[in-house]
Amino acid sequence: MIKLNVNDVEHSLDIEPDMPLLWALREETALRGTKFGCGLGLCGACTVHIDGAPVRSCSYPVSAAVGKQIKTIESIGTADAPHAVQQAWIEHQVPQCGYCQSGMQMAAVALLNSNPQPTDEDIDAAMTNLCRCGTYDRIRAAIKSAAKEKV
Ligand code: FES
Ligand code: FES
Repeated sequence: MIKLNVNDVEHSLDIEPDMPLLWALREETALRGTKFGCGLGLCGACTVHIDGAPVRSCSYPVSAAVGKQIKTIESIGTADAPHAVQQAWIEHQVPQCGYCQSGMQMAAVALLNSNPQPTDEDIDAAMTNLCRCGTYDRIRAAIKSAAKEKV
């Protein structure tokens, strides 16, 4: 049995220790806001937070997440009370197809939590997720707006 704390809820899951965390989240806890993209740790569509740090859950075994705080996009704001990053995403109309965007937002939230006033260089260094629709300019603008909100 693997015990995982996801969004402050304890789960006891009958899964193999080497199962990728993304599989456990989507198939065992039914939290499907975290997306499968490449499955190779490259695109970032599967980004979640582990103890506050952004992690690519497709390449992260559940055994490594035991005893840690896992946060998914479902823990970041609500439709009625969006997180500052999500509000900025709306204002800048960031998404195109939207597939990469939950991972992008998780990466942006982690960046602003660790660096509330990032420079362009900081944003480029932290935001290594891929967007096949090319929304990068709007993402950068939205992160700057969210940073202003947090001042
Ligand atoms: S699906 Fe995890 S990095 Fe692409
Ligand atoms: S908005 Fe389509 S992949 Fe990023």
